[in-house]
Amino acid sequence: LENGLMRRPPMGWLAWERFRCNIDCEEDPENCISERLFLDMADRLAQDGWRDLGYTYLNIDDCWIGGRDAKGRLMPSPKRFPNGIAFLADYAHSLGLQLGIYEDMGNFTCMGFPGTTLDKVVQDAHTFAEWKVDMLKLDGCFSTPEERAKGYPMMAAALNATGRPIAFSCSWPAYEGGLPPLVNYSELAEVCNLWRNYDDIQDSWSSVLSILDWFMDHQDILQPVAGPGHWNDPDMLLIGNFGLSFEQARAQMALWTVLAAPLFISTDLRTISAQNKDILQNPLMIKINQDPLGIQGRRILKTKSLIEVFLRPLDNNAYAVVFFSRRTDMPYRFRWSLSLLNFTSSSLYEAQDVYTGGIISGLRTETIFTVIINPSGVVMWYLYPVGKLGTPPQ
Ligand code: GLA
Repeated sequence: LENGLMRRPPMGWLAWERFRCNIDCEEDPENCISERLFLDMADRLAQDGWRDLGYTYLNIDDCWIGGRDAKGRLMPSPKRFPNGIAFLADYAHSLGLQLGIYEDMGNFTCMGFPGTTLDKVVQDAHTFAEWKVDMLKLDGCFSTPEERAKGYPMMAAALNATGRPIAFSCSWPAYEGGLPPLVNYSELAEVCNLWRNYDDIQDSWSSVLSILDWFMDHQDILQPVAGPGHWNDPDMLLIGNFGLSFEQARAQMALWTVLAAPLFISTDLRTISAQNKDILQNPLMIKINQDPLGIQGRRILKTKSLIEVFLRPLDNNAYAVVFFSRRTDMPYRFRWSLSLLNFTSSSLYEAQDVYTGGIISGLRTETIFTVIINPSGVVMWYLYPVGKLGTPPQ
């Protein structure tokens, strides 16, 4: 969507995967979907280095709605959001953050709260703008294909008409199976800043793999439609939660980055470990994710030995390369060359290992290199030409 927003993949925090629809604030005041949770996360984003690295969105998901007032205006649950959404938006803005909110283009949200029906779209867009919300995730439960086909473009226009820049995240394609002809990706790129193509992520490695597999099976369709202002969204990062090992956490981060995916963390920032924080706060990783060309990477190789290689072209003739192992036995010594990855230029290359910081120098296209990839893990390179053509990383 050409509204000037999200020229780079958005980064921030989103409540859903970790905090779900826990509305029991009596039993669980620290973790229920309430003002307190978002104030806590805002503080953590601002104070623990997240915001300064680019994680600026603080996003509310389902289960915030209390109902509609006599005039039909949306209201947050008065018990859980006693000061209202405008207060949260002000607080976020005072810390240099942006507030995201959630609604559903249908009769109900996925958890059964009041949705935005076609007759409510304009009013709800106004309400969000009045509250000074910065982003809307519009889900698609309890709606028909016809309502979605009308409602999503209608909401994009209504948000635009408020005059407030509000980024627009659409779950629309996920409800149409994610593929043409039912999904028209050129239209989507004009209506939305990002969109969920596929199933919800769950806190497990098998969920990460099923999403990755689907995106790779359809990369010829999906890869070309991403770019500045309009991104595919394979869903939230699980890093910091319960389902991924250390290697798998590093792998999700690297794979999402090479795919130019939005980086929405969904974990408890009050208790995240130093190790997980390091994965999410790796400066070179973030620089790659936020590369100004905004080209989504592709899987370019799948070997019989269960090694896969992903490549993303970056600014300054550089590349991100992810070597990913689907093996479950032992660290695998992968011997390969740039020419076997279809590099033809006669430049001399160098690479920086994104996780270790180590430099691999003297790479010519024909040079055989060895990378050691742990089971369900990755090795990730920032690869750049040196000499006349190239520029070293900053
Ligand atoms: C859908 C979405 C999720 C989340 C839930 C909330 O399943 O895909 O990301 O927003 O609804 O109910």
